[in-house]
Amino acid sequence: MDKERKLLIAGNWKMNKTVAEALDLVRGLKRELANVKEIDLVVCPPYTALSDVSREILDSNIRLGAQNMSENNVGAFTGEIAGVMLKEFSVRYVILGHSERRQYQKESDELVSEKARAAHSMSIKPIVCVGETLEQRESGITEEIVGGQIKGSLAGLTAEQMDETVIAYEPVWAIGTGKTATAEQAQEMHAFIRKTIAGMFDDQIAKRVRIQYGGSVKPANARELMSQPDIDGALVGGASLEVRNFSDIVKNSI
Ligand code: PGA
Repeated sequence: MDKERKLLIAGNWKMNKTVAEALDLVRGLKRELANVKEIDLVVCPPYTALSDVSREILDSNIRLGAQNMSENNVGAFTGEIAGVMLKEFSVRYVILGHSERRQYQKESDELVSEKARAAHSMSIKPIVCVGETLEQRESGITEEIVGGQIKGSLAGLTAEQMDETVIAYEPVWAIGTGKTATAEQAQEMHAFIRKTIAGMFDDQIAKRVRIQYGGSVKPANARELMSQPDIDGALVGGASLEVRNFSDIVKNSI
């Protein structure tokens, strides 16, 4: 596929996989995807598997991501994980503001922007997630919601930091539901997000930023989604938990 920006496909394993299962999965992915150079590949295991997966992918084309991190660097924050700790395992990316965290942990745009700045201070690239609920879409306020999330979650980033930031557009109604946004619906929102970023920063930065689509991406719909001009990759949940599904998504996107 001839794309303006290099595609970035990331697997968000969520709260799945023991260490043994994680190693099984990543060994399979290494085997299946060893020759892929056209697409940047990332896996985001749970914290408990980062160390082992990190060692396993050391000299492969797969990079490591985490699913969250603290906005603080050190101290009395029980249960939290700091960027410096992720760095120990060569974590390059961190998913921030996923809709599940916005919903269950009540993460706000302001908190996501603090976390994004903390990630950049450790040279970890944030994958900042945004997306509307079904109710919001049906009330016709999708752009207002997503535009607000983009402005709030990227607030305070410098141009250099924005250049090292990835966005994931994930309509909440498409996550884990089997309902994918149509390629046209997704493209429309990706173009809107790029325009919003151009307004906050400038056209050049907006042209370079990679915007992933997430929400029930599977081998069967990957090609059509990835062929949209403003879709620069995928954040894959359910289908990233099996070697066959994830590697077929990647292969169908080349
Ligand atoms: P899904 O999840 O692919 O299972 O819909 C996507 C995500 O939550 O990142």
